[in-house]
Amino acid sequence: MEKKISVNGKIAFVSGSNRGIGKAITIELLEQGAAKVYAGARNIASLDELKQKYGARLVPVALNVTDDQSIEAAAEIANDVEILINNAGVYAIGNFLGGNLLESLKTNLDVNLWGVVKVTNAFLKAIMKHKAGAIINVSSVVGLANAPATLAYSISKAAIHSLTQGLRGELKETNILVSGVYPGPIDTDMTAGYPMDMETPENVAKEILQGMADGVEDIFPDPMSKQIGQAYSMSPKTVEQQFS
Ligand SMILES: NC(=O)c1ccc[n+]([C@@H]2O[C@H](COP(=O)([O-])OP(=O)(O)OC[C@H]3O[C@@H](n4cnc5c(N)ncnc54)[C@H](OP(=O)(O)O)[C@@H]3O)[C@@H](O)[C@H]2O)c1
Repeated sequence: MEKKISVNGKIAFVSGSNRGIGKAITIELLEQGAAKVYAGARNIASLDELKQKYGARLVPVALNVTDDQSIEAAAEIANDVEILINNAGVYAIGNFLGGNLLESLKTNLDVNLWGVVKVTNAFLKAIMKHKAGAIINVSSVVGLANAPATLAYSISKAAIHSLTQGLRGELKETNILVSGVYPGPIDTDMTAGYPMDMETPENVAKEILQGMADGVEDIFPDPMSKQIGQAYSMSPKTVEQQFS
């Protein structure tokens, strides 16, 4: 079934909307005519500037994706949501040889996996009430093949890739588009100090919305991720070797 989701007139929820990619997605949704965007953030005061600019169409919602009560409360407020963007994430470094493996894996899984599982579970009923909608999960290129330097983070993003595939299958007969987003390095606080060329969060946001409009299930939103996505489609082993 072809699922093309235009954001014009839609009601969306974005987790981690106060900075980085989530903020850019929130702005792009509003600029492209979303009727309302629930902006999820741990600290809603960090949304003041966006609120001032967009007024009633932007609804700040307190959301800590590691707190069950916070998730339930957010889902109750946003009970008319049609598009869910699971963007909130952390990047805790750890691997076997470098140390910090168990601690970093727990941190990454708590936010990047369990956060997405619980938020999606809490919001799904509301999304399914509508004729059409979307659930967009922000994974990473290192979710397709593990990058050993960020082994623990990669595991959490691979889990999101798998979750996205499974949910897409479960919702196959509905008009809900389930897409994974697989960015390369993007210029946000998460990659501060990285000595490489990076895509802007604004362009990533545009690519994600274009992907939704085109019904794309695997969204590669920047030049590097497009290259990796292409290589992965031909040979997953090549990408694994490249990352290691
Ligand atoms: N930047 C990259 O190169 C890159 C590449 C691939 C994938 N990604 C993914 O893209 C997504 C956004 O990353 P980013 O680069 O925009 O990172 P960022 O600038 O560090 O922003 C992370 C966002 O997630 C929120 N967040 C973290 N823990 C949370 C929690 N427990 N509950 C609710 N919100 C929480 C943060 O809120 P606070 O302000 O309260 O901390 C912030 O809004 C993440 O899933 C990341 O893994 C990023």
